[in-house]
Amino acid sequence: MAVVISSNGNSKAFDAKMTVYVFICVIIAAVGGLIFGYDIGISGGVTAMDDFLKEFFPSVYERKKHAHENNYCKYDNQFLQLFTSSLYLAALVASFFASATCSKLGRRPTMQLASIFFLIGVGLAAGAVNIYMLIIGRILLGFGVGFGNQAVPLFLSEIAPARLRGGLNIVFQLMVTIGILIANIVNYFTSSIHPYGWRIALGGAGVPALILLFGSLLICETPTSLIERNKTKEGKETLKKIRGVEDVDEEYESIVHACDFARQVKDPYTKLMKPASRPPFVIGMLLQFFQQFTGINAIMFYAPVLFQTVGFGNDAALLSAVITGTINVLSTFVGIFLVDKTGRRFLLLQSSVHMLVCQLVIGIILAKDLDVTGTLGRPQALVVVIFVCVYVMGFAWSWGPLGWLIPSETFPVETRTEGFALAVSCNMFFTFVIAQAFLSMLCGMKSGIFFFFSGWIVVMGLFALFFVPETKGVAIDDMRDSVWKLHWYWKRFMLEEDEHDVEKRTD
Ligand code: BGC
Repeated sequence: MAVVISSNGNSKAFDAKMTVYVFICVIIAAVGGLIFGYDIGISGGVTAMDDFLKEFFPSVYERKKHAHENNYCKYDNQFLQLFTSSLYLAALVASFFASATCSKLGRRPTMQLASIFFLIGVGLAAGAVNIYMLIIGRILLGFGVGFGNQAVPLFLSEIAPARLRGGLNIVFQLMVTIGILIANIVNYFTSSIHPYGWRIALGGAGVPALILLFGSLLICETPTSLIERNKTKEGKETLKKIRGVEDVDEEYESIVHACDFARQVKDPYTKLMKPASRPPFVIGMLLQFFQQFTGINAIMFYAPVLFQTVGFGNDAALLSAVITGTINVLSTFVGIFLVDKTGRRFLLLQSSVHMLVCQLVIGIILAKDLDVTGTLGRPQALVVVIFVCVYVMGFAWSWGPLGWLIPSETFPVETRTEGFALAVSCNMFFTFVIAQAFLSMLCGMKSGIFFFFSGWIVVMGLFALFFVPETKGVAIDDMRDSVWKLHWYWKRFMLEEDEHDVEKRTD
């Protein structure tokens, strides 16, 4: 079965079908997202397991047993937070190496390297007999995340036909959300397996890592990466295979043209600092900052406490994680369905208003009704829980997936892997900041934290309104002419470059 992709708006569109082969490639590559999601979801549960704490963090375990309980401060512990966030620091560093392997070796080998890092990391962490093995395992998992998150979104954006690029790229985020959900379920069941439940939980990431390793032998390299590395014949053949049509000349020529231009750029990082790179660079970096300052990871973490307050008792952790996790997965489908229809801007703007209302309602109820050691009344707690779920929905179809999609589709080929590497590391940095600081912020700011995130949501909504142009349906190597040159603000940087080129030619 094939869907014919036709021309769209004012941008160039190339003949392409949605082939079964592309579908398989998308699913296999997106398994990288599954491992990322699993790693995000698993650490919270494992660090709450007494067997794990007794083995590696005995002092934390002692303190936990004698802790003076306080609604906002009971989880505050810098040392433990560092265990969780070390993965993001390692991923931050790794994404720069991954950018080099993506350019020099290709997207596919970079995914294979990711799966090898994952496998060794899982082995060390799950089999750890001392804190060093555990931390080195965690760092190698971080390398896997750095390599995987660099290669997978780029791969997806490059093999997808332009008209379906948004939806196919969001399969990555879908897998992230499924990974988080699976991790939460695994956490629940393994927490009652003593004394080695945590080993099973950490070892679980080995399954998708193996799928990625073997699956990546079946998938192709992207045409852009092949042509970029002078494998033009193979590039054209791959293009025919993934597009499902014989006549790919036009698209092929546009990639060759983009790659020829890219070859003239000797130092991509210097090029990234030039005015012409300003639009994708500024947007790519800020989207990462904004994605984390929506407060999503904070909300996800706080959910179990809130759900417990509604009276879910002992099953609170499972229920809250499963409910928010399931909503996260299902709402991502809405994103997949809408992103190439309504476009990116609509989703960013709609969800900014949507998430702002949720954060404000939650903040107001907690400020009014929750005292430091007391609990919320049942009706208020129920309203809070409902708004947490509605908030997660909004994130799942907008800032979550678009934080990965937009930077992967807006950089020109000459700075694509480097620009995206900076975006990935920026994401990891702010995830680290939130993971490290959130519990202390919650303890210090109390319900004010929800107003803090609300403020950022207003800023990001305004940014999207004025500075994020629509990229729906535009061919990935045609952003300059079809997007930046037409944008009210960003076009000045393009004109600056054109004038500079003319001056150089007339010199
Ligand atoms: C973000 C993660 C977040 C997840 C939630 C991802 O896009 O990068 O930080 O935990 O979405 O689904």
